Amino acid sequence: MEFPNKEILIFKENILNFYKSLKNSYLNNEHNLFSHVEDVISSLEDDLGFNIGHKPNIQPVCRFLDVCISETKNNDLKKISETINSLKHFLNWRLNDNYKNIFEDDFFKNESFVEIIGPSGLLICDKIRVGLLLLGDHVLYPSHNHQALEFYTILSGSSMWQINDENFILKKPGDKIFHDEWVTHAMKTNGEPVLALFSWSGMIEKEAIPLSLN
Ligand SMILES: [Fe+2]
Repeated sequence: MEFPNKEILIFKENILNFYKSLKNSYLNNEHNLFSHVEDVISSLEDDLGFNIGHKPNIQPVCRFLDVCISETKNNDLKKISETINSLKHFLNWRLNDNYKNIFEDDFFKNESFVEIIGPSGLLICDKIRVGLLLLGDHVLYPSHNHQALEFYTILSGSSMWQINDENFILKKPGDKIFHDEWVTHAMKTNGEPVLALFSWSGMIEKEAIPLSLN
């Protein structure tokens, strides 16, 4: 398979424009969220190299990817989902080794993430990660945290999201969720699979850890 030069650059442009529009809209007072968005924008404006040796990989939860892409309705988000569709055969879907032997077996059949831009993405970037989280239609992603700053935008599917030990809150397509350094979070789906765009900045090398190990 030939490296998708054109498609990955279109993806990068779409993400860059999306984050620029975020910066211009509602990110007024949340200091770390603002600096996160600025870091994503400035990193994407750099000249990022192609990761020619990048290999695709699928996971069981990828059975939900096509329906999540086709269910993305909102115009801005649809643009992003269409470029994901054009890249889908090249994506390296991963599981987090820190969860092995801790989370239930069912979790690993119903969760995966992919880094599209980042240290090991299709486009190489050392400062940030941009990628996708895919959740099956009935899964609990138990409490976990990480030092990296994280910003999610739901592309498709409604689900419940929790911060620390607060109540789970319904998040729908277009909703955005920010996790500051080490803020504990959990998600659960109930009937719909979820596709979400994520970005990481700060300490991006270390994967999330389950709360039970903190
Ligand atoms: Fe996270």
